[in-house]
Amino acid sequence: MEHMDDLSVTGCRRCEALVESRSRIVDGVGPADADLLFVGEAPGEQEDQGGEPFVGRSGDVLDDGLRDAGLARADVRITNCVRCRPPENRDPTSGELANCRPYLEREIEIVDPEVIVTLGKVPGEHLLGRDLAVTNEAGSIEDVEISGTTRRVLVCVHPAATLYDRSQRETFESTIEQASELAGDGGQAELGDF
Ligand code: URA
Repeated sequence: MEHMDDLSVTGCRRCEALVESRSRIVDGVGPADADLLFVGEAPGEQEDQGGEPFVGRSGDVLDDGLRDAGLARADVRITNCVRCRPPENRDPTSGELANCRPYLEREIEIVDPEVIVTLGKVPGEHLLGRDLAVTNEAGSIEDVEISGTTRRVLVCVHPAATLYDRSQRETFESTIEQASELAGDGGQAELGDF
């Protein structure tokens, strides 16, 4: 039987094609109380093998962006809209996104992040619930209701986009920097606040 125990999903067989194509279910990683939650699309080949989101080339770009913003991978939570690798790395279908949505919503509820950063078009559109011109809108923040709670969503380009288009690298880096500042704002009170 399928089951989500805290933050990990077991036994899910909701998507026939993905049950075929996956080696494993790839859950989110990082602190269960992280201020920043990064949401990608779906695991690729290396994530499917390694069992962790963003461990391939896109993961290297993400790690670099985090480091440049003064963060470490271990400081943030990283997950995907869909937890199983789609065949030939195709985009997840709307049915697959819908099937996996309750797991993502539960993860958001548990982690209760200050900011959700969507990495690329698919997660951006999935969480904002509208069409998104991700390159133009990168860096924009929107308040969105997700399972009854208003969440702050920051739009970011997908790290893989920076591999093919160097101009997106700057956009990516400045958005991660912005995420870090936003999370800091909503975090602990500073001495000067007292
Ligand atoms: N791209 C994604 O969107 N997610 C991953 O986990 C890896 C690459």
